[in-house]
Amino acid sequence: MRRKLAAGNWKMNGTSESLKELNALRDAHPDPKVDILICPPATLITSAVVTVADHPLQIGGQDNHRAENGAHTGDISASMLKDAGASYVLSGHSERRTDHAEIDEQIRRKTKTAHAAGLTVVVCIGETLEEREAANTLDIIAGQLAGSLPDVLTAENTVIAYEPVWAIGTGKVPTTNQIGEVHDFIRTKLEQRFGAGVGKSIRILYGGSVKASNADEIFAVSNVDGALVGGASLKASDFSPIITALENA
Ligand code: 13P
Repeated sequence: MRRKLAAGNWKMNGTSESLKELNALRDAHPDPKVDILICPPATLITSAVVTVADHPLQIGGQDNHRAENGAHTGDISASMLKDAGASYVLSGHSERRTDHAEIDEQIRRKTKTAHAAGLTVVVCIGETLEEREAANTLDIIAGQLAGSLPDVLTAENTVIAYEPVWAIGTGKVPTTNQIGEVHDFIRTKLEQRFGAGVGKSIRILYGGSVKASNADEIFAVSNVDGALVGGASLKASDFSPIITALENA
């Protein structure tokens, strides 16, 4: 049985004022039946960890450098995130791929470094609109999986997030058939590469315009083990019903 995961990615949003949203999530979900993760900006990780210290809610980073340390001004290492109290990190989010020209090879190296630091990595993949319209979605997904994942991983230290680029922040959501097709494909690829035991146990999240109003139908799709939520994770009042939908799925 895969434990479901409701993950929020705050992206470049949030100041200390936003910690009240974590308090509200704690109060709303004293004993959650699913894993909950919030990835705030790096500036808030330490205070976020303190805020949820006696609650199962986990805190994650949004990126780590592929090197363990060194002369990389402005970057953050995986061990720094771990030291700050993070237990997860995102890798290869499409905004990193676009804003920072990250390619699969870098994402694979970042993921390995994060694993070595003891972090669970949420590896993000997804096609652009042009790729979908050219009927290339599954080829793109196969290529990103092959290139972004290290050869050695476990179901405990790795989560996949399928985030179609055209669905992120747009209010456009794939049909449940489209989501199911890609999630089933990812599951098959994971089983082929890592063996049935690991491949069946890795959690696969859907991300892209998830909201309380569409969460129920998305969570009913096969091989959807949770969500990676952007905009609707910023306010507890928006994220909390998504957590509840996942608990009831
Ligand atoms: P939205 O939920 O705002 O579409 O963002 C999804 C996302 O990119 C999460 O990482």
